[in-house]
Amino acid sequence: MELIYEKSKPGDRASTLPQYDLPAAEVPEDLRRAEPPRLPELAEPEVVRHFTELSTRNFGIDTGFYPLGSCTMKHNPRVNERVVMLPGFKDLHPHQDEDGAQGALELMWRLQEILKEVAGLDACSLQPAAGSQGELTGLMLMRAYFEDIGEGDQRDTIVTADTAHGTNPASVTMAGYKLEKVATDARGNLDLDDLRSKVNERTAGLMLTNPSTLGLFDEHIEDVAKIFHDAGSLLYYDGANLNAVCGISRPGDMGFDIVHINLHKTFSQPHGGGGPGGGPIVVREKLEPFLPVPAVVRDGDGFRLDHDRPKSIGKVRGFTGPFGVFVRSYAYIRSYGPGLKEMSEVAVLNANYLLAKLRDAYDLPYDRLCMHEFVLSARSLKRDHGVTALDVAKRLMDYGYHPPTIYFPLVVPEALMIEPTETEPKERLDGFIDAMLAIAREAAEDPSLLLDAPRSQPVSRLDEVKAAKRAVVKYGFEEHPDLSGEVGEGRQLEAQKGA
Ligand SMILES: Cc1ncc(COP(=O)(O)O)c(C=O)c1O
Repeated sequence: MELIYEKSKPGDRASTLPQYDLPAAEVPEDLRRAEPPRLPELAEPEVVRHFTELSTRNFGIDTGFYPLGSCTMKHNPRVNERVVMLPGFKDLHPHQDEDGAQGALELMWRLQEILKEVAGLDACSLQPAAGSQGELTGLMLMRAYFEDIGEGDQRDTIVTADTAHGTNPASVTMAGYKLEKVATDARGNLDLDDLRSKVNERTAGLMLTNPSTLGLFDEHIEDVAKIFHDAGSLLYYDGANLNAVCGISRPGDMGFDIVHINLHKTFSQPHGGGGPGGGPIVVREKLEPFLPVPAVVRDGDGFRLDHDRPKSIGKVRGFTGPFGVFVRSYAYIRSYGPGLKEMSEVAVLNANYLLAKLRDAYDLPYDRLCMHEFVLSARSLKRDHGVTALDVAKRLMDYGYHPPTIYFPLVVPEALMIEPTETEPKERLDGFIDAMLAIAREAAEDPSLLLDAPRSQPVSRLDEVKAAKRAVVKYGFEEHPDLSGEVGEGRQLEAQKGA
């Protein structure tokens, strides 16, 4: 497809403006352009066609099944968009005084109350803008708490699982803590012996997602919590996988002290490609004084922002956080009403249905009932037929499906991590099952179908490493840089996990 600059024809215009007959504005000589900017010149229909054609090259939850494990790509009900576009929400200025923003403050307060109930904890801040920012905020809370009780210098280590999402170790390092990784046992739980040997008086806390990124609920979660609490440490719950247990089991009841909730996953939100997201944190009472300011509080019949929190870690995000995300999540939760747990029940049912149908065609590293997602392996396909998880993922695109997450978690070789979510009907799941089974057969009968995939897309195998490290996003006019021979040459063998 041609770039818009390549379609440009000198003199073509989308529209013209009448002759300007007012005095020209005085622009200082050194700020004046020597020549007009080089913009593409096209008639309006051509501009519309160009961008419409580009938009059809994208894949989204609105165009098809998107089983990207750990990312919870669920349908975003349109009623959310309707509500977020109400003028009182859409046009509200962040500097509006509190009296003129009572509705928005009430919505935030109500959302906080719901998240406290869902997490089984006592206080909430909506500020963090993503799960990863929630993690960093939670670790800052731990530091503030231990400094407050005089153990700030003593506690310098955070424990994570070897299945942890990449943001966990990254947040730990950014927060200035040392990282200790714990192994996974044969059933996919934290290895308790390994864990015991790594928790001591230097441990500030655990950061864990439950169910894990293997889609498995830790069978010893109460023992795990006891080990940390006995050592005087705190437990942080990475709530990215809350879609499995929402309304059924609560992180606070499992023993966790701090939880982040990925609003943009569990409570729907058009996400991916960089946003928008929301990662509120919910904490036990003893951590409340350290939460970010301002806090959204109820004051009699009204609502206000409380800045008077002397022990607060301060602000982690502009104003009160990503407000549009709050409105959508609130609408999503309220439209389920008291039946919210049905969301997680169906998510788990859908995942187990897929697992039951696919388990004989692929390797299943942990043979247990799964939660909202599960991890298969293409290890036998690689050994017997020379095709990898990446090849399976690319071939799925020819069948019209977004690939699952691959090569994550790292403890499973040739991992295929599949999360259908609750918003898919059985017919879609059956179509995906047929495609996965057909691909496993093709691997045995004609591996080239996988090795050359995708064939149906405008481009086939992309060098994703080079695309990330050497993104060319500016049109070069005369110069078109020759990037061959730079980083990432050759066929890419492993792709990174999705957003
Ligand atoms: C298990 C887990 N933890 C944390 C995160 C980070 O969340 P966010 O993408 O909102 O920063 C993700 C995102 O995929 C995740 O899957």
